[in-house]
Amino acid sequence: MYILGIESSCDETAAAVIDDQGRIVSNCISSQMETHKRYGGVVPEIASREHLKNILPVIRKALAHADVQLSDIGKIAVTQGPGLVGCLLVGINTAKSIAYANRLPLAGVNHLEGHLLAPLLEHRVPFPHIGLVVSGGHTNLYLVETIGTYRLLGRTRDDAAGEAFDKTAKFLGLGYPGGVVIDRLAQKGNPHAVAFPRPMLHDGSYDFSFSGLKTAVINHVRKQHPDRVPDPAFADISASFQDAVVDILVDKTFRAALHHRVTAVTVGGGVAANSRLREKFKSKGAESNITVYMPSNILCTDNAAMIAYAGMHKQVDDKPFPFEMNAISRMSI
Ligand code: KG4
Ligand code: ZN
Repeated sequence: MYILGIESSCDETAAAVIDDQGRIVSNCISSQMETHKRYGGVVPEIASREHLKNILPVIRKALAHADVQLSDIGKIAVTQGPGLVGCLLVGINTAKSIAYANRLPLAGVNHLEGHLLAPLLEHRVPFPHIGLVVSGGHTNLYLVETIGTYRLLGRTRDDAAGEAFDKTAKFLGLGYPGGVVIDRLAQKGNPHAVAFPRPMLHDGSYDFSFSGLKTAVINHVRKQHPDRVPDPAFADISASFQDAVVDILVDKTFRAALHHRVTAVTVGGGVAANSRLREKFKSKGAESNITVYMPSNILCTDNAAMIAYAGMHKQVDDKPFPFEMNAISRMSI
C-alpha cells in the first residue's frame, strides 16, 4: 500500500509517494520561487493560480517517479492548514476529487505536524524527544511523547525565525528567500563582528522573540551604513544576525531536552536547512550527549513526503468521506 501526499500551503506545489513503512518512493516539488522573487515575497493570489496550474502535473510526476498507478495508492494525505487559504484550497479540492473518484480514504494533515515528523522519514528517532519546528511562519518547541501526542512547550511571541531571516534580508536588500541568501552571505562573514542581542535567552521560558533582533539589525545599519549600499560589512552583519538566531534556538531547545531528560532532539522546517544552525545543533548535541536528528535540506523546506508521513498515522479508514473538509488558515498542534 502506498500513500500519496499533497502539499500546497504556500509557494511550493508538492506531491510525494511513500510506502506503508514510511519510506519515500518519490518526492516532487514545483517551486514558485522565481515567480515571487520580483515581488520580494509570496503574493497569495499569484501563488493560488500557480498551484492550480502545477498541481496535476506534479501529482502525475510523483506517481511516475514512484512507478505506481493511482490503483496502487491506498490513502491520500493533504495539507489542511495552516497556510494561505487560496493555496490550501487548491490542494484540498484536488485531493478530495482524486480520493472520491478512486474511493480512497483522505486525511487532512496539519502542516506543522508534517515539519515536526519530517526528521522521522530518514531517522529512527527515540521517544520521547524534543522537536523544534522553525519555518517561515512558526517557531514552536514541542515535547513529542509519541506520534500524535505533542506538548507545546514554547513558541514565538512575534516574528518566526524564518520571518526574521526574510525581513532582515529584505531590509539589507539581499533578495529572496531571505534565509537562503543570508546563509550564503554569512559564510563570508564574521559571526562575532556585531554583538546583536539574544532576546529572551535567559527569561526561563521556552518562548522566542525575533522581532527585536531584526530591529537591532535595522538600527545598526542605519547608524553604521546610512547609505545602505550592500557593503562587505553586510556579510559580517548577516553572520552576526544568523548566529544570534541560532544561539537562541540551540539554547532553548537543549534546555528543554535537559529539563525533560530526553536523549534526542529533532529540528524541522525551512530554517533547519541553515548551515550554521546545523553545525551548532550538531556540536551542542555532541557536547551534551543528546542526538540531534535533522532532515536532509529537501525535507526541511515544504514538501509532500512529510505530509504523506503524518497522514499515514491518521486513522481515517472507517470514517465517511470528508466532503466538508475545508482549509484552515490558522491551525496549531
Ligand atoms: O518550512 P518552509 O519551507 O515554509 C513554511 O512553512 O514557512 O520555511 C520557509 C522559511 C523561509 O522563511 C526561508 O527564508 C527559511 O525557511 N529558510 C532558511 C534557509 N532556507 C530556507 N532560513 C535560514 N537558512 C536557510 N538556509
Ligand atoms: Zn512549511
